[in-house]
Amino acid sequence: MMLIHTHSTRDLYNDTATKWVREEPSSLSDFTARPAILALCEPIAGLRVLDLGCGEGYCSRELRRRGAREVLGIDLSDGMIAAAQTQESQDCLGIHYEVGCATDLSQIGDRQLDLVVAVFLFNYLTIEQTQQCMAEVARILHPGGRFIFSVPHPAFPYMRQAEYPFYFQVEGAGYFSQRDRQFPGRIWKRDGSWLDVQLVHKTLEDYFDALRVAGFNTMPILQELRVQSDHVELDETFFKPLVDYPLHLAMQVSR
Ligand SMILES: C[S@@+](CC[C@H](N)C(=O)[O-])C[C@H]1O[C@@H](n2cnc3c(N)ncnc32)[C@H](O)[C@@H]1O
Repeated sequence: MMLIHTHSTRDLYNDTATKWVREEPSSLSDFTARPAILALCEPIAGLRVLDLGCGEGYCSRELRRRGAREVLGIDLSDGMIAAAQTQESQDCLGIHYEVGCATDLSQIGDRQLDLVVAVFLFNYLTIEQTQQCMAEVARILHPGGRFIFSVPHPAFPYMRQAEYPFYFQVEGAGYFSQRDRQFPGRIWKRDGSWLDVQLVHKTLEDYFDALRVAGFNTMPILQELRVQSDHVELDETFFKPLVDYPLHLAMQVSR
């Protein structure tokens, strides 16, 4: 029997912040998603970057190390921001972190940033909140600036049982009828431990609608991220169960 947690997002991340702290890839998506998202962000050198839903700063640090001029990390969870600041105090990269909500970025002026990144943020937001957030992102991006985000592939939970090493427990609930409903999920690390995650289910159409309503009208770059052969070579037990499934979406649009 799987456990269904009923945490609010803030409580979930405040309670688990220390489990997220890492310097090296550890969870499944550290291998199957984040390297591809960071590659999509290139060229990064000299950019003013916002990492929305930055968590304990894993991507913020990498963006700064790859040459971003300024990195601001914003997260709803004060526990995650405290964990990010602890690491910043130990290894000073000049990243600024603050607690905030992705749907209200009024602390940032219009057209201030070159790149906004949101790595697995939108699976915590409803359709309406996603639209609010994307409208804010469109407002704060400089003309020509880029918005890059990743989400769980909307079809993935409907394609596979809720089991190791990654799932969202949708219990067979409908792909269209259950939009905006929150489901619990779990993603494992290679060391056998796991992270509890959540999914506010949205369809592919919901993401594209939110982008269009926000004013992103260019053709997006879309990647369906998956297990690659080098992952299986690295750790067959861990990655093999997910071969050939669409795990995550990475999207880039320009302002
Ligand atoms: C799956 S974690 C990913 C963290 C980080 N982006 C990474 O790649 O390691 C999702 C993060 O989104 C944050 N989050 C959820 N809802 C948010 C909101 N409305 N505003 C800002 N951050 C939010 C959570 O607190 C959590 O730290």
